[in-house]
Amino acid sequence: MLLTPEQEKIGRENFSDAVGVTRRDFLKGAAAVGAGAGAMYFGYEKLKGKPVRTAFIGTGDEGNVLISEHPTDYMEIVAIADLRPANLKRTFTGSHPEARRGLNAVLGAAKASEIRTFASHRELLAKKDELGLEAVVIAVPLNQHAPIALECMEAGLHVLCEKLMAQNITDCKKMIRTADSKGLLLAVGHQRHYSVLYENAAHLTGMGLLGDIKFIRAQWHRNNSFPDSDAWRKWDYDGYAKPDHEHLLKLEKDGVLKDLGYESAKQLVDWRLYNSTGGGLMAELGSHQMDAASIFLGKVHPVAVQGFGGRNFYGIQGVGPKDKWTDDREIDDQIFVTFEFPGKHYSEDKNDLAIVTYSSMSTNSWEPYGEAVFGSRGTIVMKTEKEALLYKEPSKDSPGGFEQRIWVVNSQEGGSVLDSYETGAASGPGGGAGAEEKVSRGYREEMEHFCYCIRSGENKLRCPGKVAMADAIMALTANLAMKLKKRIVFKDEWFDPASDAAPETDEQVINS
Ligand SMILES: NC(=O)c1ccc[n+]([C@@H]2O[C@H](COP(=O)([O-])OP(=O)(O)OC[C@H]3O[C@@H](n4cnc5c(N)ncnc54)[C@H](O)[C@@H]3O)[C@@H](O)[C@H]2O)c1
Repeated sequence: MLLTPEQEKIGRENFSDAVGVTRRDFLKGAAAVGAGAGAMYFGYEKLKGKPVRTAFIGTGDEGNVLISEHPTDYMEIVAIADLRPANLKRTFTGSHPEARRGLNAVLGAAKASEIRTFASHRELLAKKDELGLEAVVIAVPLNQHAPIALECMEAGLHVLCEKLMAQNITDCKKMIRTADSKGLLLAVGHQRHYSVLYENAAHLTGMGLLGDIKFIRAQWHRNNSFPDSDAWRKWDYDGYAKPDHEHLLKLEKDGVLKDLGYESAKQLVDWRLYNSTGGGLMAELGSHQMDAASIFLGKVHPVAVQGFGGRNFYGIQGVGPKDKWTDDREIDDQIFVTFEFPGKHYSEDKNDLAIVTYSSMSTNSWEPYGEAVFGSRGTIVMKTEKEALLYKEPSKDSPGGFEQRIWVVNSQEGGSVLDSYETGAASGPGGGAGAEEKVSRGYREEMEHFCYCIRSGENKLRCPGKVAMADAIMALTANLAMKLKKRIVFKDEWFDPASDAAPETDEQVINS
C-alpha cells in the first residue's frame, strides 16, 4: 500500500497517540520498573546474577545480527561455532556498520579475543564443561535446527533456536518433549513477540479498536531478477562465501558435509534454495508474518489454507537475464496463499471468518514488506517491522481515511473507539510522541528474556516451542497445500505436542 509521506506521518501520529492514550497507566507503571523497554513491556527484570554463558552455533548473516545485538548485561558469549572460516572471521571484524558490527566493536578487541572458536557444533559440545556453557543460540540452515537443538539439549543446554522451528512438525514435537523432559528452556526466534511496536499494535487490536477484523493482508515482495543479484544465491554472489569455496569443497570431498545433512558445499551455502535444506518463501519469510497475523487475531489457530506456488521465473529459458536460466533452485519463486481464521463467534456461526492472504514474490519490490490489518472501524499498517500506521474508517458523522488525524475516546457503550478531529491537519493531542525513536525489531529483548528466564527459573518465554510450532504448522501446511494444490483443514491434534499427529504424516492430507 503506497501512501504519501504526509499520509504516513498522519498514520504514525494516530498510532502513537492511540497507544499513549490507551496504555497511559501501563506505561507509567512499567516505567517505574526501570529496566529498559523490553523488560517493561515483556515482564522481566534486570538480571540477578552473572550473565548467562552462551555459545552461538552458526555465525552467518543472522548469527551476526544477533551477536551484534546481544545484551551484554544478560548474556556472555564464550564461544562461537561455524563450518565456514570466513563467517567465523567476520564475526569478530564485522560486516555491516550497524546490523553486523562484529565482536571487536561490540565488546572491544581484548574481550573479544577471549571468545573461543570451533569448526562445528560437535567440537563445541565436546568442550561444553570446560567452557562452563549454559545455553546456545542456533542460527544455522533450517534442516539443521532440530538435529543441533536436540544434541544441545541432550548435552543439558538451554536453546534459543532461529525460526522456522524445524523442517517438519514431528521434529518440532521432539524438540518440545526433549526440552520438557530435561527441564530446559526452548525459545524460537520469531522476534515479533519481542517487538514493542507489534506489542502495541496487538494491544490496540486486542481491545477492539479496529472493530471486527475480517482481513489481514501480508506480503514480502523483493526483486532478485536483475543479473548477478540474489541475496539467497550466495555461492555465486556473496563476498563472504567465495573465500570459503576451497575449504567447503574439501569438507564435501571428505564426506563431512554429507554426515551433517548437506549434499554439497554449494547446497550448504545456498541452503534456502533447496527442498532438503530449506522451506521456501513460506518458511523463511511468511512464517514471521503469519506469526504476526495470528497475534492480531488473538493467537488463534487457523481453520484452513489453500494457495498457489510456482517456480515461474528462475530456470526458464528466455525469462529474465541469462544467469537466471541456468538457476537450479527447487523452491517456488512466487507464492500466494489464503488462510481462513476463526472469528470471535466462529463456534456458533461458521461464517464468522477472518481471511489472511500472504504473498511473496522474487521479481517485483513495489510494496515494502509488512502486514495490513483491516477492521470494520479502522486499519493498522505495519511496515518493515519499523513503523505502525493507524487510520479510521469514515462514518456518517465522523470522517476518516489516510488524511485524517484521529483520537481515542470512550464510547457511549463503554470501551474505547476511534474519533476524528474536525480538520485533516496533522498535529493533535499527544503530538505523535515516540514516532521518531529508533525501533528495536525485538532481537535484543528476545535474548534478554531468554537469559532472564534461565537465571530466574521462570518459564514465561513469549515464543516457546509450542507457539513456534504453530507458526511452523501454518508455514509447512501452506507449503503442502500449494504442492498438493488443495485446501487443507487444520487439525487440533497437530498443535498438541503430546500427540504424534502432524500434517506431513496425515493420511487425509497426503493421500486424498
Ligand atoms: N529471525 C529473523 O528475522 C531471521 C532472519 C534471517 C535468518 N533467520 C534464520 O537464521 C538461520 C540462519 O540464517 P542465515 O541467513 O544466517 O544463513 P547463513 O547461510 O548466512 O548462515 C548459516 C551459517 O550456519 C553455518 N552452519 C551450517 N551448518 C552448521 C553446523 N552443523 N555447525 C555449525 N555451523 C553450521 C554455516 O556455515 C553458515 O555460516 C536460518 O534458520 C534463518 O531462517 C532468521
